[in-house]
Amino acid sequence: MKLKTLIITGGNKLKGKVTVSGSKNATLPIMAASLLGKTPSSINNIPLVRDIYTMSSLLQTFGTKVKIKNHSIIIDPSEINNYKAPYEIVRKMRASIYVLGPFVAKYKRAKVSMPGGCAIGLRPIDLHIKGIKKLGAKIKMKHGYVVAEAKKLKGAKIVFDKVSLGATINCLLAAVLAEGTSVFINASKEPEVADTIKFLKTMGADIKGEGTSTLIINGVRELNGVSEYNVIPDRIEAATLIIAAVMTKGNVLVENLMPEHLTVFFEKLKEAGAKFKILNNSVHVFPHKGQLQAVDIITEPYPGFPTDIQAQWMALMTIAKGNSVIKETIWENRFIHVLELNRMGVDIKIEGNTAIVKGVNELSAADVMASDLRASAALIIAGLIAKGDTYIRRIYHLERGYENFYNKLRGLGAKVKIKMENTI
Ligand code: UD1
Repeated sequence: MKLKTLIITGGNKLKGKVTVSGSKNATLPIMAASLLGKTPSSINNIPLVRDIYTMSSLLQTFGTKVKIKNHSIIIDPSEINNYKAPYEIVRKMRASIYVLGPFVAKYKRAKVSMPGGCAIGLRPIDLHIKGIKKLGAKIKMKHGYVVAEAKKLKGAKIVFDKVSLGATINCLLAAVLAEGTSVFINASKEPEVADTIKFLKTMGADIKGEGTSTLIINGVRELNGVSEYNVIPDRIEAATLIIAAVMTKGNVLVENLMPEHLTVFFEKLKEAGAKFKILNNSVHVFPHKGQLQAVDIITEPYPGFPTDIQAQWMALMTIAKGNSVIKETIWENRFIHVLELNRMGVDIKIEGNTAIVKGVNELSAADVMASDLRASAALIIAGLIAKGDTYIRRIYHLERGYENFYNKLRGLGAKVKIKMENTI
């Protein structure tokens, strides 16, 4: 089998304009939410990335009609005739689990393969199951599948033990059609949850409290499709591009983002000494003088520093002055990129869930391996300034979540090549 390898020749300062795509992590639950409608939904500003195509295939296995054109998707759930999410698709993308809530709520049954763990951690679904059970569903695990049935869902109080984006979404997608009122305590406040709520409200759902940790959901009898909905921009892609611009001392205008979704990130960037200006829907990065300063971060649920920017931040800190302490509190195994960054001449030590990065003056190119989506982005960022050619193998991880990323970087003047290589 042949796989793509990315070759980056470091040293070019990024320059120009780049546009951020729509949010993958908002589009996926919104696609699942569209299953709840009586009529088709049309969703715009979707990113054309592999996870979106995987979700489309999954919806099609149920009998849903899906059409993708440019950056829009039309989803018609009116002829659903199958309620099984098979292992072959779920194993490719954990967000497949989001169909559990809508199926139980609308069709009173579901059979969804259990998603496994993945490189960044165990990724359990106990909170999803516990919440949907509270709404009245009977759920059993059979042969690796979550098998759910419900005569009727009833509103309930759900207290999430931990802030979970996934569990909040799944329970929400069930509670909107339950009889009576549900109250969610300690719900996720991530912008992707708020965007899903906005979509559900446009469908006719009655939800209060979006953007806060308490949600009140008054169940309705039915929901309609939405004729035109624009998904929010991808805050993680935006931050990745901004870090790439800062790292190379570039002069870049990053367009189509919502700066309010990245408040803590911008504070940290300022502390590090980066020069940038926040405009309405864009951020202009200017070259800074001298070396950046080391800045510590702790990943936390929104509005804290996002786990999905931890790896890219670490790449930035490799060339900062001093030691930065990076604490990962969301995923227990999200430091696989550390060994790869160390191959590029950095000294990063791991102590439990903390990485200590000792900044260096320059990075040297090396052969590295991408282990997951955000780790891939971190290695690319490092490669942009490393001396020589950095070869990043298993770059396919990146294509799950970054649209047209190689071309976006090329458009800014980066030297990026793709090579197809034989694997053993
Ligand atoms: C999380 C991130 C999200 C990020 C995504 C991919 C948070 C709050 N969420 O979302 O921003 O885009 O990873 O990196 O930062 N958990 C349980 N039981 C469950 C569900 C989750 O114990 O049933 C735990 C997880 O192990 C984890 C934490 O809760 O420690 C957050 O998980 P969750 O938010 O559900 O994960 P994602 O939805 O994947």
